[in-house]
Amino acid sequence: MNLLLYGAPGSGKGTQANMLRDRYGIPHIATGDMLRAEIQAGTPLGRIAQPILAAGHYVSDDVMIGMIRNRLSQPDCSEGFIIDGFPRTIPQADALDILMDELGRGFDRVLYLKVEIDELLRRLSGRLVCPMCQRTYPPRTSKCSAEGTALIQREDDKEEAVRPRIEIYLEKTIPVLDHYRGEGLVSEIDGTGTIDDIKQKVLAALSQNVSLNT
Ligand code: AP5
Ligand code: MG
Repeated sequence: MNLLLYGAPGSGKGTQANMLRDRYGIPHIATGDMLRAEIQAGTPLGRIAQPILAAGHYVSDDVMIGMIRNRLSQPDCSEGFIIDGFPRTIPQADALDILMDELGRGFDRVLYLKVEIDELLRRLSGRLVCPMCQRTYPPRTSKCSAEGTALIQREDDKEEAVRPRIEIYLEKTIPVLDHYRGEGLVSEIDGTGTIDDIKQKVLAALSQNVSLNT
């Protein structure tokens, strides 16, 4: 099963991807998490990416396409994957088409979590993350349920980065949806409600998929 999670910053992609990973046992490939791991490790890419993420801008298409190409060819992707945060631009979407063809794979579904801007701002201002495994948590959670570590605020959840992130999403990433709508792959899901409500909607969208292998 090959899934693509699509939605604005704070729409719940990571939250639902964690649920899907645990349920289906396929890797969650989140380009934002991968970039933050590079930053944390202090790699050359991490040093380039750090100010870009902190400002809420996008890392270059070339870098991101190379990163996803490398990741999807890893052995743990052989039974499927959940991509979160890629493609974010039309050139990235075109490159992913080529890569999927090369791999002889196709997406089973694109899950689009639709959330209004006011709610996105509210969620991002309170979001906490685990610095070890990158799982996300609602405000006032004390520690990571998997790692037991103290949670932190993401640098790009600070007020000055949140608006640019949403603006760049509207400008560059919303058009990517049409790329997949044309292929009839998109399930649009109202992403407001409790996390469990959204989970049920996500699972219902997947259960309509004839090629789903559960
Ligand atoms: P990335 O990490 O992908 O960030 P994002 O797209 O901005 O999305 P978020 O992770 O902020 O939100 P989410 O949808 O995962 O929401 P979550 O589940 O955490 O990318 C970061 C940066 O990396 C980019 O800005 C860019 O610089 C760079 N980058 C990454 N990929 C790139 C690419 N392809 N090209 C170029 N640059 C790239 O939920 C948010 C909060 O809401 C949490 O607190 C959660 O607990 C809570 N919540 C979730 N669901 C609900 C609900 N139903 N009700 C109430 N609260 C909820
Ligand atoms: Mg995320």
